[in-house]
Amino acid sequence: MPSLKPLFARLPMARSTRAYAFGLERLPALPAGPVLETGTGQGYSTAFLSRTLPERQVIGIDITYQCFKPERLAFGPRRPWFVQASAPALPFAANTFALTTLVMTFHCLPEPQQVFREIFRVLKPGGALLMADVNGNHRIAPWFERIEHWGGISPITRAYPPEEIIALGTAAGFPPPQTHARKPGSFMVWYIFRKEPMNNG
Ligand SMILES: C[S@@+](CC[C@H](N)C(=O)[O-])C[C@H]1O[C@@H](n2cnc3c(N)ncnc32)[C@H](O)[C@@H]1O
Repeated sequence: MPSLKPLFARLPMARSTRAYAFGLERLPALPAGPVLETGTGQGYSTAFLSRTLPERQVIGIDITYQCFKPERLAFGPRRPWFVQASAPALPFAANTFALTTLVMTFHCLPEPQQVFREIFRVLKPGGALLMADVNGNHRIAPWFERIEHWGGISPITRAYPPEEIIALGTAAGFPPPQTHARKPGSFMVWYIFRKEPMNNG
């Protein structure tokens, strides 16, 4: 099969920004502080976050900026910062971010347990991880994986079942997350993991 990567790089990911909007509406109150987007891709989602959360500095990371489209992006009042980095080794200090997003990215990351540990480390107490990804228990999940593998998008893509994602998150220190779906049985699952706020007692 020819590589689908160049085709995907050209399509604006409007669907993804709708996924972010659905998740952001469901977040708890967050502490002050910046936002870390893991897996910026073309950059549309990072630009969307900078417009939707204009009071916060958004920092996007990606392992590669091959698909990045800065000339097409409309930023909020604070221009996001883009950093080349890998999710299992975040180049940020502990307790830095109020929010981390992982939208349609976790399925293609290496070292999934280490990714959760790193996100837990860089989140402030009371901060949240907003995650959305393909439900590995859905009947379409094996086809999603095949397209990613055969289409040359990512050889390591894996659609994780929700119970596995929840186990990885709790093993990293998060309490069990809230989960959401747009419709019962839908292909995408949203997770909101919240790092416990500091106990003042
Ligand atoms: C499908 S895109 C998601 C883009 C964006 N979050 C959205 O929803 O529009 C997944 C991104 O994860 C990035 N990625 C893959 N491995 C990574 C890693 N180890 N660390 C950071 N990003 C990675 C890919 O380069 C790709 O841009």
